[in-house]
Amino acid sequence: MHKVIFDTDPGVDDAMALLFLERHPDIDLIGITTAFGNASIETTTRNAQYLKQQWNMSAPIAKGSAAQFDPSRVAHAFPAHIHGDDGLGNIGVPDVVDVALDPRPAHQLIIDTVKANPGEVTLVAVGRMTNLANALKAAPEIAGLVREVVIMGGAVDVPGNVTPAAEANIHGDPEAADYIMIAPWKVVVVGLDVTLKTTMSRTELGELAKSGGEAVQLLDRLSQFYIDFYDDKVADSMVVHDTCACVYVVARDLFTTRAGAVRVMTTGIGEGKTIQKPAGQRFGPSDWDGKPDQLVCVDVQADAVMKLVKETLARR
Ligand code: BDR
Ligand code: CA
Repeated sequence: MHKVIFDTDPGVDDAMALLFLERHPDIDLIGITTAFGNASIETTTRNAQYLKQQWNMSAPIAKGSAAQFDPSRVAHAFPAHIHGDDGLGNIGVPDVVDVALDPRPAHQLIIDTVKANPGEVTLVAVGRMTNLANALKAAPEIAGLVREVVIMGGAVDVPGNVTPAAEANIHGDPEAADYIMIAPWKVVVVGLDVTLKTTMSRTELGELAKSGGEAVQLLDRLSQFYIDFYDDKVADSMVVHDTCACVYVVARDLFTTRAGAVRVMTTGIGEGKTIQKPAGQRFGPSDWDGKPDQLVCVDVQADAVMKLVKETLARR
């Protein structure tokens, strides 16, 4: 059984990932923490509350930081053209959802839960890495207590999706991302190198909605806007970035990984770029020296991943 805290910015593909975690029999979802990114922190938190209510979930939700790890950093605009003004495909989420929030800020819920379950918690982060960095900064000792950190973020051997260099989750808070990459814990980077290969077509999602009940019908509805956006990249389909990272937790053998220290550029035209120094490859002295080896996913058995996603979402 994998105890998971899900750090997320729902977000259409985040919503699918959340349902995957909730429905997978080997995952015990013990906390949800919200990040800004696909929309403001108010909106992503409200969306997490809405999905918890609609999907009858029990995990506590703690609201994340509204500011980047470096508070002097100017925030980017939210991608309403991808996830809708409401962050969930403009389906008309109520402004206020009557679901209680955990009283603690996200980073504190992470710290407390990790300390209460030493060596057992997997952190799955699919938004900006802000909450993870805040948790590490406030309690560096959790690095030795977390089982693993699996992130959706980065573009290591492929172009980014916000700039030619950077992927959105890293670009949105590069200092946070660099901080978590060089901490003494195990990070697995599930970035665009693999997530762009995992797609679900509109037809497949529609079929799933028939077998998966009301929960998947909601997922189908809220995904339509996002599928329209992705149409010029993957015909009539959605890229399931965040679910792909969740699949790694339960089926890591479907991924090919490469070890090596990872750093994030925080300035210049490459701001937000994730760069790995492959372990064993020799270079002159560099900023990667002495940093822990992390795992970057460089390939994926996409058909097998999507089979597992569909089987899991269809469970009731
Ligand atoms: C990532 O950015 C967000 O739009 C998605 O939810 C995903 O986590 C993809 O770059
Ligand atoms: Ca996300």
